[in-house]
Amino acid sequence: MKVKKAVIPAAGFGTRFLPATKAMPKEMLPVVDKPTIQYIVEEAIDSGIEEIMIITGKAKRAIEDHFDHSVELELELEKKGKAELLELVNNISDMVDIHYIRQKEAKGLGHAIACAKTFVGNEPFAVMLGDDIVHTEDTPCLKQMIDCYDQYGSSVLGVQTVADSEVSKYGIVDGKQLQDNVYSVKGLVEKPSVEEAPSNVAILGRYIINPEIFDILAETQPGKGGEIQLTDALMELASKEDMVAYDFEGKRYDVGNKQGFLEATVETALRREDLREEFLAYLETLVEKESVKQK
Ligand code: UTP
Repeated sequence: MKVKKAVIPAAGFGTRFLPATKAMPKEMLPVVDKPTIQYIVEEAIDSGIEEIMIITGKAKRAIEDHFDHSVELELELEKKGKAELLELVNNISDMVDIHYIRQKEAKGLGHAIACAKTFVGNEPFAVMLGDDIVHTEDTPCLKQMIDCYDQYGSSVLGVQTVADSEVSKYGIVDGKQLQDNVYSVKGLVEKPSVEEAPSNVAILGRYIINPEIFDILAETQPGKGGEIQLTDALMELASKEDMVAYDFEGKRYDVGNKQGFLEATVETALRREDLREEFLAYLETLVEKESVKQK
């Protein structure tokens, strides 16, 4: 069955980014001049997704407003003859059919995904975390995973190998390599210590999941951190049916984390033709000055 729907959970508190996220969703933090969540919506569209559901929560109105028409702004830009900006603003609201549902309490990623049950129905669907951007030169990350789904027909976890020091931040795959970039998933461990980790293959914010997950989520008890963990439900799904992990090509940024956000900002600016030259010159001078200070 074709993967046509994507769910973007964006209802977390974003405590790692306080105070910025007190009244503004972290998914709206701009990377250069575009909110994080727009990069993700664009990746979904470029991967062939036709319908998106964003899981929102308290203080998340800005997300809905961002993807809606802003009549006053459009009139103002038209009046001032700013055609390019007008097109930019209009394109955002015309991108794709976006639905919203509120997760009334932030009880964890698994609980957030369970809120999308009616929207998803009985189809395989994509999950794209609202604070994970993946930059690719060619095929978008989600498209690579959809191609993998089309080949195997089982749920697909988007993974990459991480350093030992990083394994305790992610869901880690216990698997067997099937091809260069595909593993069959035997089990999963949520945020293990290096000693407990079965591998260094980490789930990084992109999933394609069969709808059987919803019955499992309905029974999943709170796990690590008292939250209903998606990884726990996926573990159960992997014990019932085949599941693969796909090592995608691309640079992934965890924008919900300060270091990840800064890396995404600097590297995105350096990829932009209109900014690169001046910004690079600034960085070079800055680095020189800073290294003199350190001596
Ligand atoms: P995170 O764990 O990165 O988000 O969840 P968080 O809880 O907001 O982050 P911190 O640790 O407090 O800074 C990954 C994604 O899942 C969403 C988040 O919005 C984020 O996009 N999420 C998380 C939900 O939608 N609901 C939840 O209950 C938890």
